Amino acid sequence: MSEKILIASDHAGFELKEQLERALGELGFDVQDLGTDSPESADYADYAHPLAQKVSNGDVKRGVLLCGTGLGMSYPANRYPHVRAAVAWNPEVAKLAREHNDSNVLVVPARFVTEAQGVAILRTWLDTPFEGGRHARRIDKIEKMSSEHE
Ligand code: RB5
Repeated sequence: MSEKILIASDHAGFELKEQLERALGELGFDVQDLGTDSPESADYADYAHPLAQKVSNGDVKRGVLLCGTGLGMSYPANRYPHVRAAVAWNPEVAKLAREHNDSNVLVVPARFVTEAQGVAILRTWLDTPFEGGRHARRIDKIEKMSSEHE
C-alpha cells in the first residue's frame, strides 16, 4: 500500500506545492493536498495547523509545508507534540534534518528555491533514514520536555 503523505502551503508556496505534489505522486505516494488551492493571499498558520495536527496524532507519518521563507509554517507546526518540522533550503540540510533530527515535517522556503532544487530537497528528505544512536537521545529530550508541558 502507498504511504500517505500530506502537503500544504500558503500563496507564496502554492506553485512549488503543486510541483512537489506531482513529484510525490510520481514517486508513488498517496498525496493529500490540504491547500491552499490558488495563488491568492492566504495565512500560513491556517494550513500548518491541520497538517501538524495529523502528524502529531499519528494519522500520517510525514508531511510537507511550504511558504515564502519556511519560517511562518515551521512556527505553528513545531508547537504540536511529536512534530519535528525542519526548514531545509538545500539537500544537505534536508539530509541532516533526517539523519540527526528525525524530522517528520519538511518545510520548504519556496521563495528561495527553484523547482529542481525543491524536488532534490524533497527526494533527499524522503530517502534519508534517521541515524539514531546519540541523536535518539537528543530527540528523547525534546519529547520529554513536550510531554511535561502537555
Ligand atoms: C507571505 O508573504 C510570507 O510572509 C509567508 O509565505 C512566509 O514567508 C512567512 O513566514
